[in-house]
Amino acid sequence: MVENIKEISNSLNQVVNLSETLVSLMNDVVCRVALGRKYGGESGRKFKELLREFMELLGAFCVRDYIPWFGWVDRVNGLDARVNRVANGFDEFLEGVVSEHMEKKKGKGNVEGEGEEEEDFVDILLEIQKEHTLGFPVHRDTIKALILDAFSAGTDTTTTLLEWAMAELLKHPQIMIKLQNEVRKIAKNKLNVTEDDLEKMQYLKLVIKETLRLHTPVPLLVPRESTQEVKILGYDVEAGTQVRINAWAIGRDPSLWEDPEEFRPERFLNSSIDFKGFNFELIPFGAGRRGCPGTLFAIAVNELALANLLYKFDIALPGGARAEDLDMAESIGTLAQKKTPILVVATPYSH
Ligand code: HEM
Repeated sequence: MVENIKEISNSLNQVVNLSETLVSLMNDVVCRVALGRKYGGESGRKFKELLREFMELLGAFCVRDYIPWFGWVDRVNGLDARVNRVANGFDEFLEGVVSEHMEKKKGKGNVEGEGEEEEDFVDILLEIQKEHTLGFPVHRDTIKALILDAFSAGTDTTTTLLEWAMAELLKHPQIMIKLQNEVRKIAKNKLNVTEDDLEKMQYLKLVIKETLRLHTPVPLLVPRESTQEVKILGYDVEAGTQVRINAWAIGRDPSLWEDPEEFRPERFLNSSIDFKGFNFELIPFGAGRRGCPGTLFAIAVNELALANLLYKFDIALPGGARAEDLDMAESIGTLAQKKTPILVVATPYSH
């Protein structure tokens, strides 16, 4: 990411589309962790296109979900056909990924310890399948579904958080400077900010927390269903009722937060409120047994990317644009993404 931005900035001092850069970063990171390598070229392009359409479909209005006997509407308006096309596209791609991993394993034979350091998510799932670790059979379709799960849940969400963090920093130059000072002081003279440095970057953690509060990437979390009849605030809720939690509104509730619309990372100084699902004022990753299993991964990647961006570059809005003019509109859909991309001028900083 850093090299890409440098290249764009150096050639003709061009404006960098930071949103695009962050999307590529997260796709590549999750690809390498989950699939063992980046997917470029035609298959990579197709995969990214499928992911984009998949996310769009997740947020699409499906008549059958609400009025089952009107399900034919989804067939007539083309929704079913799109769903099938995307499902088949994914299946073909993931079939290739699984086969490639099985071939690689065969090629390596059973040499003890060989290739251990290169193990990725697919290798681990195949290992579980082979060794029957779970005590029940893991089918090939299950493996493909789990890979898709990690992708769909892990890429756009993380990019969204990074994008909002950058947008808020551009909107609040004083906060950007404070964070940049912290990052540059702690990583001083190093080539890159590393994970060891992150532990010491306390203000960075406050900035990420405040971004999660104000810009909960998954505003309504994931739909759940009540398993039994329950009474809440005087209302009778039947078993089997779909439950939607408005984490976005909770994060901006004036009865819970002082000046909730303001981006103020310092509010978390000396506060024990965290986003791990134990404080219901702040639940960007949900809570309980079905809470997000990728929380720590997402935070690590976000902190590392943000710290390195600020360590390596002085970032500003292009053409003397004013911070207060930065468009902070949200898109509609499953994710509350930034509606317009962030365009910046990134000047490499020499240490
Ligand atoms: C900033 C980044 C992320 C945010 C805001 C986020 C948020 C969420 C939320 C709100 C849920 C539903 C929780 C609930 O209903 O209680 C969820 C579930 C999930 N997340 Fe994340 N997530 C992020 C990153 C990731 C990453 C990086 C991965 C994996 C690589 C991941 C994997 C999953 C999976 C597999 C589920 C489904 C869990 C289940 O239903 O059992 N997430 N996430």
